[in-house]
Amino acid sequence: METFYKRLLENNKKWVAQQLEKDPHFFDELAKGQQPPLLWIGCSDSRVPANEIIGAPPGEVFVHRNIANMVIHSDMSMLSVLDYAVNVLKVKHVIVCGHYGCGGVQTAMTNKHVGLIDNWIRHIKDVYRFHHNELNAIENDKARFDRFVELNAIEQVMDLAKTSIVQEAWQRGQDLHLHGWVYDVADGLIKDLNVNLKNNESLSEVYRLKL
Ligand code: CO
Repeated sequence: METFYKRLLENNKKWVAQQLEKDPHFFDELAKGQQPPLLWIGCSDSRVPANEIIGAPPGEVFVHRNIANMVIHSDMSMLSVLDYAVNVLKVKHVIVCGHYGCGGVQTAMTNKHVGLIDNWIRHIKDVYRFHHNELNAIENDKARFDRFVELNAIEQVMDLAKTSIVQEAWQRGQDLHLHGWVYDVADGLIKDLNVNLKNNESLSEVYRLKL
């Protein structure tokens, strides 16, 4: 068998042994169920493993990852994860975490044709169009790319707030906070973008649902 593949299964056995050594009831507790306080929406990028970069043990983070951490309102997978997290698990926080150096965001700045993914990336191009003036005023390519990553994460937080799922939770008085972060793959640090939403007041009028 291929050694890389085999190594994964060996690593799993070692990890189980390590956990049990630290706490013999580690898996017994997890087997009882989950009540994570956080939903993480991040990029599929292999360099941004959700739990690891925030030091969260199993059971603490409900995770959804896709290319460029997008919140697209017709994406049944994202909507199902969000609905379950908000209405069943009753998470207190949802974090959209983008990352500098994101290939999806970078591609959206170009006219490159990659394949089917062009249609996913089109949503990121919309974010560029919304912030066209600010982004085009940045002369340095790296600085413009970095800012686009930040604006994309912020825009996805706003998109979360626009969903009926989140607005209904707020309407019921549920304690639910939305946040936007960016992770830097070059130094491992997270930047808080300081978008913290707990109601729909910062949404444009047209997005506020009458519930
Ligand atoms: Co990415």
